[in-house]
Amino acid sequence: MARPGHPIVGLDIGTTKVCVLIAEHSATGPVDVIGVGSAPSRGMRKGVVVNLDACVGSIKQAVEEAELMAGCSVDRAFVGVAGAHVRGLNSRGVVAISGRDHEVTREDVQRVLAAARAVNIPPDREIVHVLPQEFMVDDQEGIHDPAGMTGAKLEANVHIVTASVTAAQNLVNSVNRAGVEVEEVVLEQLAAADAVLTQDEKEMGIALVDIGAGTTDLVIFDRGAIRHIAVLPTGGEHVTNDIAVGLRTPIPEAERIKKKHGCALAGLVGEEDTIEVLSVGGRKPRVLSRQILCEIIQPRVEEMFSLIAEEFVRSAFDRCLHAGVVLTGGGAMLEGIQEIAEDALDVPVRLGAPSGIGGLAGTVGTPQYSTAVGLALHGARRRLTRPPRPAHPFLFSRMSDMVRGWFREVF
Ligand SMILES: Nc1ncnc2c1ncn2[C@@H]1O[C@H](COP(=O)(O)OP(=O)(O)OP(=O)(O)O)[C@@H](O)[C@H]1O
Ligand SMILES: [Mg+2]
Repeated sequence: MARPGHPIVGLDIGTTKVCVLIAEHSATGPVDVIGVGSAPSRGMRKGVVVNLDACVGSIKQAVEEAELMAGCSVDRAFVGVAGAHVRGLNSRGVVAISGRDHEVTREDVQRVLAAARAVNIPPDREIVHVLPQEFMVDDQEGIHDPAGMTGAKLEANVHIVTASVTAAQNLVNSVNRAGVEVEEVVLEQLAAADAVLTQDEKEMGIALVDIGAGTTDLVIFDRGAIRHIAVLPTGGEHVTNDIAVGLRTPIPEAERIKKKHGCALAGLVGEEDTIEVLSVGGRKPRVLSRQILCEIIQPRVEEMFSLIAEEFVRSAFDRCLHAGVVLTGGGAMLEGIQEIAEDALDVPVRLGAPSGIGGLAGTVGTPQYSTAVGLALHGARRRLTRPPRPAHPFLFSRMSDMVRGWFREVF
């Protein structure tokens, strides 16, 4: 294949689709997208691998499609991790500034982050990210980079993201078996935030809500750093199931109807609007009012946002969302969802699609691609500080090896 080097590859293994995005550094922006592959996802439920072989097949299919489009082969990728097994916790570390002039050195920063990281993690969980929030030198708070400052005591607040060892290892194994090495595992919400949020929004205080098929992933930023993450067991799949039951129609037909005619707010639909619905068992199609469809969808979406509102309160950052909420993921494309969200959350809400990319940007400019684009953007940044390692001789990456790698990366 024609192109040289190791392209930057984002691999998002979702509940409904596996998406592979091949990118390269560009002269005009951070990355140019040169290939996209998408395949129906099999073997995944709520962000967790439930059938390894099926999952491997889907990854291979998406990778091949992207390779054909880009004209290069994929040997490694930045892979998104998600699912209810992912947790976040805030932690704090304190060290004495020991140098001659009491000036903070890079080593002091490393030591304080190590101290903040030293929390009890159960043996069945591993650290995925250690994300610095802010540093304090003596009583001075809110410092982004303390190196060079003078004081006696250095403190750091961090957000630690952990994942189940087995769930994460199964994900890595699936990618490996598809012939791709995992360059880094990245929390999906973190990647999506890279693609759709601005730095100003992260400073002001914002929540990103990624509504997928099986799960809804949240991340809250305030003063430029991650404060809270959560994964809620709800998503577009539940809306589709409700339509299938409510209209007595097969799931694929319910999915089609939702995408074509669905609306989360009955008030937005004209009284005369009708839809045609296929029946089960080969009976004749029926014509129904679109209002009926909305009456099925609306309560489920309202329930989704009441769960989200509860999670904001639980995080204790519900009063810090000065820039509001951004909805992304395929589930956010439902008509009327923004209005319901504004009503339930009482903050401004916008729809977030990926930005900041060139090349085939049009192909991946919709909310379903936020995570994949974010993974490529994250990868592009990493490559600037850390060139790709030579390919692993046995291809098989241990989750624990990568964790050590990420930890070094933070420093
Ligand atoms: N136009 C649309 N209107 C309403 N819903 C839509 C639309 N397009 C896609 N969806 C829904 O979005 C969901 C898929 O979103 P997405 O591709 O972000 O999920 P995923 O990444 O595969 O899943 P997850 O993140 O939960 O693992 C499906 O439930 C689908 O029905
Ligand atoms: Mg997703």
